[in-house]
Amino acid sequence: MKMIYLFCCAGGAAMGYYIAGFDEIIGVDIVDRPNYPFKFVKMDALEYLRTADLSDVDFIHASPPCQCYSKLKYLSGNVEKWEEEHVDLVASTRELLIKTGKPYIIENVEGAPLINPIKLCGSQFENMYTQRPRLFESNIHLRKPDAPVVRHKTLKLGQGPAEDGYITVAGTRPPKGMNEVQAKLYYGFALGGIDWMSLEELTQAIPPCYTEFIGKQIIKYLDNQNKEQRKEEVRNIQDMLMSQEFIELVKKYMVS
Ligand SMILES: C[S@@+](CC[C@H](N)C(=O)[O-])C[C@H]1O[C@@H](n2cnc3c(N)ncnc32)[C@H](O)[C@@H]1O
Repeated sequence: MKMIYLFCCAGGAAMGYYIAGFDEIIGVDIVDRPNYPFKFVKMDALEYLRTADLSDVDFIHASPPCQCYSKLKYLSGNVEKWEEEHVDLVASTRELLIKTGKPYIIENVEGAPLINPIKLCGSQFENMYTQRPRLFESNIHLRKPDAPVVRHKTLKLGQGPAEDGYITVAGTRPPKGMNEVQAKLYYGFALGGIDWMSLEELTQAIPPCYTEFIGKQIIKYLDNQNKEQRKEEVRNIQDMLMSQEFIELVKKYMVS
């Protein structure tokens, strides 16, 4: 199955979709992302949606930049300036996604204007050591995980891991007490085992287990759709095989 991953960064989400069963995951980002693990196109994501041939694409995921909704804007000291510098691409992305007629996901942070999203948190999954709450909107029904969200006492941004190993994966500098190499290792570990990204990319990454969970639901939906489509095709062929029109022709020309 083939999918497009818009605003892909270094592809945290892409790896989860691969595990779920997508075999072609084309990443699109406005800056070069040599760490992206699959086929990559450097392009404005909205321009890509407007111009690319999507006829053989099964599904599209978009992770527009989240800085304009992030809580960090209140820590920046100048909310207006922050909002000016960080454009809101959610609405324009959604408008173009709807036009494609394909199943889609828009992923973003809490506070983003998503429609009926489900929320996923690290503590609902195994091998996660950060909460990283993220919202997922879709035009198909999405099931939530059965596991509840468990509260973890995480130390403030810039501090190291708490006693239970949980850490906040954010910020441009390594947390206190770690150098850059250690921060990269620990952030990757906390996100479920990511070892192919820079520190900056890790701070933006979607844990692969989130999109493995969602990807399996999308694949099930697509499989059902394919089955329905095939049934419809078979019905059309059956109608054609012994159509009234055909019988009339036989009567007219063969039965005297
Ligand atoms: C929040 S990150 C996505 C992180 C990704 N979901 C992951 O799992 O690793 C947003 C990305 O969008 C890219 N970006 C920003 N504006 C863009 C645009 N107009 N078109 C394409 N990519 C863009 C940035 O370069 C950045 O890599």
